[in-house]
Amino acid sequence: MITSSHPAKRNGPCAAQLWIFSSIGKKTIVAATGILLVLFVIGHLLGNFTIYLGPDAINAYAEKLHSLGPVLWAIRLGLLGILVLHIYFTMLLWKENRAARPARYLASDPVGTTIFARTMRLSGLIVLAFVIFHLAHFTARVVDPSFASMRTKLDGREVHDVYRMVVAGFSSGPVVLVYVVGLFLLTFHLSHGIGSLFQTLGITNRRIRHTYELAGRLLAWALYAGYVSIPLSIFLLGLGKGPHQ
Ligand code: HEM
Repeated sequence: MITSSHPAKRNGPCAAQLWIFSSIGKKTIVAATGILLVLFVIGHLLGNFTIYLGPDAINAYAEKLHSLGPVLWAIRLGLLGILVLHIYFTMLLWKENRAARPARYLASDPVGTTIFARTMRLSGLIVLAFVIFHLAHFTARVVDPSFASMRTKLDGREVHDVYRMVVAGFSSGPVVLVYVVGLFLLTFHLSHGIGSLFQTLGITNRRIRHTYELAGRLLAWALYAGYVSIPLSIFLLGLGKGPHQ
C-alpha cells in the first residue's frame, strides 16, 4: 500500500520504487536485512569460540581477518549498510503503523501495533548502543587504550594479542555486566524479531508458524548461551588467567 503523500507516487515511480515503499516491501527489507544480521551474529560467535582453543587460535583467526585488508573494509561497510537499512525501514514501518488506526489493524498486524513493537524498538536501540560500546571496546580499543599495545608473536610474526585483550576486557565486573545485559537484550530482540519474520514471510498456518517461531527462539537463546559463556568463563572460571598469561 502506498500513501498518497509519498514522493514516489507524485513523480511517477517505477515498479521497484513502488514495491520498496509498499508495506510488504518495507517488511521484506526489514526481514531480509534481519536475516543477514543474524547470519553475522552466528558467524561472529563461531569465530569467537576459537578463544576456547587457546591464544594462538583466536589470534590467528583475527590476523586472518585483518589480512583481508580492503575485503574486510568492504564487509564492514556492507554490514553497516545492512544495519542502516534495517533501522531505516523499521522506522518507516513504525511511522506507517502509527499513522494507521490501531483498532483497524490490531488483528491483522499485531507485531506493528502492540506494546511488542515498542519493546522491539527500545531493545533495538539498546542493542545499537551495546554494539557501539563493543566496537569502541574491542575494535577501536578506546575504552581501555592499553588494549591497542597488546602484541604477541605468532609463527615468528608480531600480531595483535586479541586473546589477552579479551581476557583483560572481561576481567572487569562492570564490563561483564554490560555484556550480559546487552547480549540479553540482543537475544530478546532476535527472538521476537525471528517470530515476526515468519509473519512477514506470510506463513499463515498457525502450527507451522509456531514451530518456526519456537526454532527461532531456541536459536536466539542458544546464541545467548554461546556469547555469554565467554565473559562468564573469563570472569567466573578464570579462563586465560592460567599458564598462558
Ligand atoms: C561475548 C561476546 C563477544 C565477544 C567476545 C566479541 C569479540 C570481538 C572481538 C575480539 C572483536 C575485534 C576483532 C578484531 O578486530 O581483532 C569484535 C569485533 C566486532 N564485534 Fe564482537 N564480540 C562479541 C559480541 C558481539 C555481538 C553480539 C555483536 C553484534 C551484535 C558483535 C559485533 C562485532 C562487530 C560488528 C565487530 C567489528 C568487526 C570488524 O569490523 O572487524 N560482537 N568482537
